[in-house]
Amino acid sequence: MVMERFRVVGGGRLSGDVRVTGAKNSVLKLMAAALLAEGTTVLEDVPDILDTAIMAELLRRLGCTVEHDRGRSSVSITVPAMPGHEADYDLVRRMRASICVLGPLLARCGQVSVARPGGDNIGSRPLDMHISGLQRLGATIETEHGNILASAPQGLAGATIWLDFPSVGATENILMAAVLAKGLTVIDNAAREPEIVDLCEMLASMGASISGAGTSTLEVEGVESLRPTRHVSVPDRIVAGTWAYAAAMTRGDVTVRNGRPEHLEIALDKLVTAGAQVERVLATDEAEGGFRVVMDRRPKAVDVVTLPFPGFATDLLPMVLAINSVAEGAAMVTENVFEARFMFVDELARLGADVRTDGHHCVVRGRQRLSGAPVTAHDIRAGAGLVVAGLVADGVTTVADAYHVDRGYPGFADQLQALGVEVTREPDPDALLAGE
Ligand code: EPZ
Repeated sequence: MVMERFRVVGGGRLSGDVRVTGAKNSVLKLMAAALLAEGTTVLEDVPDILDTAIMAELLRRLGCTVEHDRGRSSVSITVPAMPGHEADYDLVRRMRASICVLGPLLARCGQVSVARPGGDNIGSRPLDMHISGLQRLGATIETEHGNILASAPQGLAGATIWLDFPSVGATENILMAAVLAKGLTVIDNAAREPEIVDLCEMLASMGASISGAGTSTLEVEGVESLRPTRHVSVPDRIVAGTWAYAAAMTRGDVTVRNGRPEHLEIALDKLVTAGAQVERVLATDEAEGGFRVVMDRRPKAVDVVTLPFPGFATDLLPMVLAINSVAEGAAMVTENVFEARFMFVDELARLGADVRTDGHHCVVRGRQRLSGAPVTAHDIRAGAGLVVAGLVADGVTTVADAYHVDRGYPGFADQLQALGVEVTREPDPDALLAGE
């Protein structure tokens, strides 16, 4: 594989319309949820990104037939009567979210072996709440040779489960196991993200009995079996938020079609505090609805604290650090979800940003402009944040390891060009030098 990088010429302003597809962080779980019913499930508005391709491959290795119609942005998943139950390391190490097959396979097959994903660049990311939740439903779980082995030969039984932290992944795995468990399951301190609501809506359309979606208490009455379905994914609020912050940083005017402002309330409110105008855009016969962001001045610095939904999304941390790096004044940004998310700061400092971290706090003193430099993406959101920061830097910025961004942003460079700025992709000579 030829390693690519983004080449960003600073100084442009974003202007025009951009559409967001379905959400990566929902679609991956919706694809796993298809395992819960024999037959063909069809998902629509599926983003054409690396992660959906990896999930499709994982499902194929579990005996499913998966067709990704890129033209129609739909994926059809045909699940056999008895799918496989081993998710092997070479796929799981490429995408942590593979762990979300644990719950559905345990519920459908009564046993499952999933390679234990390691940590990544944003944190150690333990799975203790996934495991203790499934154990409360009656599963026996061991870790052997790097695999999580879970079994429940007699089937699962409903229970009350309290999560120490409203973990998205743990809520999803427990939910997808509980829908086929005997009796009532209550998940307390559950995650409330729009992606959780989307998963609940899909499971309900498969015949599941769930109440409390979007609240901290989910109640699931188990059923005998589920049926395949057709479901349209919720829009990607993190990609939509990225466009909103990029528009504001470049003093632009962007309409984000299919973006849901109600999924980004705090993030958009911070942009208003920074000096932007943000308005909802209603759908017409000609165009989808969404929201519009216009900025006609230098942003003002904004303090932010990241929290689980409905708090400020941790996945937008790089965007708020980037906008504060060219804002008027200084800001304090606090990360409460992932302990290593500030790795991004060192790369931002290479662009001349005045950023200092202390534990999970970061102080950013705004500068008039950043200065272009070679930097490296260490994860999906950091990569997108660096490309956007390059837009407000003098000269050229190159962002290596573009593949990180491909995991979450379909056609990022093309969409940026369509909004009037100079961002291209090129083979990374430095990567080649490294014998890659
Ligand atoms: C999901 O990760 C998203 N990933 C993340 O997006 C997102 O940042 C995160 O939710 C929070 O919104 C996907 O949906 C694929 P968590 P997840 O379980 O499920 C700790 C992106 O860029 N924890 O809510 O892994 C954990 O370490 C990615 O798209 C435990 O301690 O997040 C973290 O500190 C990055 N034990 C916190 O909880 C557990 O058993 C939140 O994690 C589970 C989690």
